[in-house]
Amino acid sequence: MTKFALVTGANKGIGYEVVRQLAEQDFHVFLGARNEELGKKAAESLGLSNITFINIDISNTQSIQNSFKQILEVTDYLDLLINNAGIALDFGTLPSELKVETLRQTFDVNFFGTFQMIQTFLPLLRKSESGKIINVTTDMASQTMFDNGETAPLNILGYNSSKTAINSLTLTFGKEFENKGPEILGVTPGFTTTDLNGNMPGGNTTSESAKIITNYALSNENFNGKILNKDGIIPW
Ligand SMILES: NC(=O)c1ccc[n+]([C@@H]2O[C@H](COP(=O)([O-])OP(=O)(O)OC[C@H]3O[C@@H](n4cnc5c(N)ncnc54)[C@H](OP(=O)(O)O)[C@@H]3O)[C@@H](O)[C@H]2O)c1
Repeated sequence: MTKFALVTGANKGIGYEVVRQLAEQDFHVFLGARNEELGKKAAESLGLSNITFINIDISNTQSIQNSFKQILEVTDYLDLLINNAGIALDFGTLPSELKVETLRQTFDVNFFGTFQMIQTFLPLLRKSESGKIINVTTDMASQTMFDNGETAPLNILGYNSSKTAINSLTLTFGKEFENKGPEILGVTPGFTTTDLNGNMPGGNTTSESAKIITNYALSNENFNGKILNKDGIIPW
């Protein structure tokens, strides 16, 4: 039976490599992107017949619903949903200087968008025997690790708190899904050199970070309701 996966924000960066790695594991992968031209180009550039471009802007309810209908034309179940799409608009901005509009915009994508993706695709994930949702997060969103100085010291309230809110989705949906599925977990790929951070040098390659995510995606071990880095469960 064909395994189906949907990855959001996959026209570049970590998501693009997650698509490649899952497609190489014989998943039929829906490559989600908000920009149609960039998404189509990305899907074509991977050169694999088991990849289908899907237009999704996760901050737009209509766009999410349209993508759901498009996917329904191909399959009535989904094995994997990788909520990878995300934005960071406040690198270098202190909390006291952050504009409320910027904070709202960040939450619109990272939190409300991810929430709507989970709710919308839940019926398809429930039809899979092994439905799994991975919310891509950051260790800086772990209040414990950030407070203890165990992460990069980037005090970026917008990005970090929106990811903490995503962690809360992982915990609360995880409590609801216990025993009946799908499994939901949060994974941080760790610092990665991508457009998100202005291609700051010294991070993982996108391929290395994607591997951390796909390893959990393919794992048979159950991590429902937990957040994890490459070494295992991390604190809230
Ligand atoms: N890079 C790191 O160090 C790091 C560390 C921890 C976690 N992460 C997380 O990893 C994920 C991927 O980030 P990345 O580093 O690969 O960054 P990236 O290269 O900037 O990729 C982000 C992707 O999200 C898409 N996106 C943004 N807003 C969207 C929306 N409203 N709807 C749909 N797609 C949208 C972008 O599309 P466009 O091309 O159209 O903008 C792009 O495809 C993010 O969730 C990020 O928070 C990254």
